[in-house]
Amino acid sequence: MKKIIVEKLKYRYPMTGKLALDNLSFTVEQGELIGIIGANGAGKSTLCLALTGLVPHFYRGAYGGKVVIDGLEVIKSEISELALHVGIVFQNPFTQVTGSKLTVYEEIAFGLENMGLDRSEMTARIDEALHLLDISQLKDRDPFQLSGGQMQRMAIASVIAMKPGILVLDEPTSQLDPQGSDEVFKAVRRLAKEGMTVIIAEHKIEKIAAYADRVLVLYNGRLIDFDTPHKIFSRTDLLSYGVPAPVYTQICQALGIQHPRSGTYPVTLEEAYLAMVNQHGDSLC
Ligand SMILES: Nc1ncnc2c1ncn2[C@@H]1O[C@H](COP(=O)(O)OP(=O)(O)O)[C@@H](O)[C@H]1O
Ligand SMILES: [Mg+2]
Repeated sequence: MKKIIVEKLKYRYPMTGKLALDNLSFTVEQGELIGIIGANGAGKSTLCLALTGLVPHFYRGAYGGKVVIDGLEVIKSEISELALHVGIVFQNPFTQVTGSKLTVYEEIAFGLENMGLDRSEMTARIDEALHLLDISQLKDRDPFQLSGGQMQRMAIASVIAMKPGILVLDEPTSQLDPQGSDEVFKAVRRLAKEGMTVIIAEHKIEKIAAYADRVLVLYNGRLIDFDTPHKIFSRTDLLSYGVPAPVYTQICQALGIQHPRSGTYPVTLEEAYLAMVNQHGDSLC
């Protein structure tokens, strides 16, 4: 089922002369985990905003083409209605914490309180969100005593407790250490497995290579390619769009170690290791 349909989307911020999104067309299926990559200023954040309806309902400007989320055309829908279908998590978990709640549990409950749910439904949703993000053991903790990775997972839990079918994350791990980043990626992978459609704009190429089903490359607001991590990171012109391939891919490219049939290169450490072992017929360790 097509969860997101983008057709000839164009967008320019008010008082600017340049398109931030330039004629984008693509579709996303339910349960896919999509990575958005591109240099600074490529349009990643703007695309995230357009997929949630904040562009053009909050950020005005010139808008053309069409975005359809869960069957709702963004431009014809209220932001309050769209919010039931798509949730967004930003870079810095601190900005998304209410600051007024004493525990992680209350923080997650906060977003649900205005939804008119009965008590048992609320409790069930909070427990499920805690479980999916693997933070049940933290439910009585003070949100401000958490690590960055834990706090970001709490922010994601607060959004998914509202049960949007689509979750958009704009560089959610940029403030996090490697362990925190891993926690977040593992959590969103789990959510996608449960059927949630996940869109994640991210600088950490190695993480996108390891976790995304497909990768969308933006350059100057234009869609350069949208394909599997193997296809995307095997492109030899990727760097000209300001995006390096994962280091493992670069090493295999330099050594000429590629998949015999598809011609693509390994994108993770494990794949690179296996490819080298196979090529040399014995273990490298
Ligand atoms: N609030 C804004 N007002 C005007 N221009 C903006 C605004 N936010 C981003 N832009 C411009 O839109 C383009 C895309 O930016 P952005 O979506 O933030 O890229 P990325 O997230 O890939 O770094 C850039 O040229 C940037 O300068
Ligand atoms: Mg950005």
